[in-house]
Amino acid sequence: MQIPDRNSLLRELKNHLFFLKDAGYSEIPCESDLFTESVSPLNSSPVKSMTDNKKANSLIEVREELGDCTRCKLSQGRKNIVFGSGNPKADLVFVGEGPGADEDEQGLPFVGRAGKKLTEIIEKGMLLDREKDTYICNIVKCRPPGNRDPEKEEIAACNPFLIQQLKAIQPRVVVALGKPAASTLLGRNVPITKERGTWHDYEGFKLMLTLHPAYLLRAYTIENRKAVQSDMKKVLKELGR
Ligand code: URA
Repeated sequence: MQIPDRNSLLRELKNHLFFLKDAGYSEIPCESDLFTESVSPLNSSPVKSMTDNKKANSLIEVREELGDCTRCKLSQGRKNIVFGSGNPKADLVFVGEGPGADEDEQGLPFVGRAGKKLTEIIEKGMLLDREKDTYICNIVKCRPPGNRDPEKEEIAACNPFLIQQLKAIQPRVVVALGKPAASTLLGRNVPITKERGTWHDYEGFKLMLTLHPAYLLRAYTIENRKAVQSDMKKVLKELGR
């Protein structure tokens, strides 16, 4: 067997670290399973297909399956796939609508104005740490042009990846941010101002509906702020915090 030289090992390591970053890891995971069943570029074993559903795929396998996705037309205008970020073992997952310009630029979810608001809700309101206590992703992983709502086919193409992400993370609570996320997850038109604050089931996960932080910024009323506060209080109670 040929032993790789130092430079190619370093190159492989760098590629792998970028890969982990794309998969939403903000720290280097060191659980043994990541290295035994995993996706290291140095490991040539084939990745389990998402259709082989005997066991949940790890988040990193889901990211690998997504690849350089061209399953819908959103791929044509994107700069970066925005897979998700945070703790791959988080008890709490927030699901937004889709990346905006800042997210597309950086390849990370909720990093623009709405993202700052979401961070504030998590850190100041819920007293949690965004990176350590939550995982954040969207119903579509590529930016819809001009920030339009994602279309049915685009959502349908991305949905298996969202489900697989949740199955990999196994959160205790999922929070849908805003009407498009809530309607997508529940498969019906959700009047979000009426139904926010209520619990639902999504693929066996406890699902709370709340207002989108961008909506909160647009309609920054005491009523809306109190509504989100009250929804997050319910989430914290469910998490036992
Ligand atoms: N709005 C969303 O729904 N998702 C993001 O990632 C950013 C803004």
